[in-house]
Amino acid sequence: MVNFTLNVAVLALVASVAAAPATADASSTTFSFARWVEDIIANPDTALSPAEAIVAANATEVVSTAGGLQKRANCQPTFPDAPAPDAAACLNDLARKGANGQHCAMGTRVFEIEMCRIGGAQIVASRGGLAAQSVNCQDVARTGGLIFDSCFRADNTVKGSEICITNRLMQINISGV
Ligand SMILES: *[C@@H]1O[C@H](CO)[C@@H](O)[C@H](O)[C@H]1NC(C)=O
Ligand SMILES: *[C@@H]1O[C@H](CO)[C@@H](O)[C@H](O)[C@H]1NC(C)=O
Repeated sequence: MVNFTLNVAVLALVASVAAAPATADASSTTFSFARWVEDIIANPDTALSPAEAIVAANATEVVSTAGGLQKRANCQPTFPDAPAPDAAACLNDLARKGANGQHCAMGTRVFEIEMCRIGGAQIVASRGGLAAQSVNCQDVARTGGLIFDSCFRADNTVKGSEICITNRLMQINISGV
């Protein structure tokens, strides 16, 4: 039953990719974590679960939907590995929190803050300046999606960092705990 459900989800994903008119090569099946985050933000009830997203990513080529202008995230070889399913669960949580209007904030004099920790994965933010910073948690999830698209690995781990897409004073890191 579980396998059946996952297969249906993957087939639905492949079908939606094939149907997307903007895809340059409609015959290729690809997966993007950034696109998955957008799916959660658009409708958390119909988006793939984190476990389904990992299966879909593992079954296809992971690509960035941000286009050629998006530089690759820094995959930070010295960070400890995060289990990808745990890190994906963090993206899912942050995207859902943001959908409820929740902000991910760093107060004055706070230089590092944990935005999410699930299992063996953590998503932390750091900043250089002194002023307090705040973004919708959706944007932390979106930034995490970009890290995944560059840094998800076949051994089912992920780690890396990227500047927050909507606040260049905040850096988002995904790593093992
Ligand atoms: C990824 O795919 C490989 C090859 O099909 C499979 O052996 C492995 O179990 C898969 N891993 C996950 C996390 O789905
Ligand atoms: C995030 O990674 C950068 C680059 O390695 C590092 O300078 C920063 O301290 C890290 N932030 C946290 C909160 O660990």
